Amino acid sequence: MDERRKPLIAGNWKMNLDLAGAVSLAREVLLRTASFGSVDVCVLPPFPLIQAVAGVLDGSAVGFGGQDLSKEDEGAYTGDVSAKMLLSLGCQYVCIGHSERREFHLETDESVRLKTGRALTAGLVPIVCVGERLAERDSGDTFMRVERQVTVGMGGLSPDELARVVVAYEPVWAIGTGRTATPAQAQEVHEYIRKLLSRMAGDVIALRMRILYGGSVKPGNARELLAQKDVDGALVGGASLSAESFAGIVECAG
Ligand code: PGA
Repeated sequence: MDERRKPLIAGNWKMNLDLAGAVSLAREVLLRTASFGSVDVCVLPPFPLIQAVAGVLDGSAVGFGGQDLSKEDEGAYTGDVSAKMLLSLGCQYVCIGHSERREFHLETDESVRLKTGRALTAGLVPIVCVGERLAERDSGDTFMRVERQVTVGMGGLSPDELARVVVAYEPVWAIGTGRTATPAQAQEVHEYIRKLLSRMAGDVIALRMRILYGGSVKPGNARELLAQKDVDGALVGGASLSAESFAGIVECAG
């Protein structure tokens, strides 16, 4: 990882935990990660649990945010959650275009683009997820897929807006499967993404932007992944549900 970029370790809790479980996990994460000042840390609880987590983390070094947001501002959109709502709970971050949203909610690069715009307008830091499926990797289409996700999903943003975006590269075949990309496979795609960002926002901004790796990151493989030049942190699913393993990953980034 480049010295100029402060690593970010984000815990994606997905659809896990309940109120009591979320509060106790947030407390433990805070306790165990408070001493790592050289790393940005955040957690992404399910929507109904954000307010309780905010009660624990507000004003602390551990940030928090949503796992998704609506592309609309407000109105008759049953089940959706707006940027304004997240902001009013104290959220700083929001995950956008996670592969599970793309797969189960048919999200497209175009909806990712609209949501990213919403997040930026509200002052939230979007963590925009990209990554190829196994069939795309096997057929040699990884770069083509990722290029489309980056250029369309973050299309039309000004260089200043892009500078506030965090990109997360998550090969779909590595998510929740225990199968991690090798550090070299991750670095190769991260470097490619940074080249795309350079083309979109210029070298100076692209060099400042953080590109996280996600997909079965654990304390045992985090150090090697995070040691790659263009890997600036991690988006952690399963291992973020244990404060001990999540803190172990944060430690690897410090
Ligand atoms: P995982 O999930 O760490 O459980 O593979 C990562 C993610 O989906 O963000």
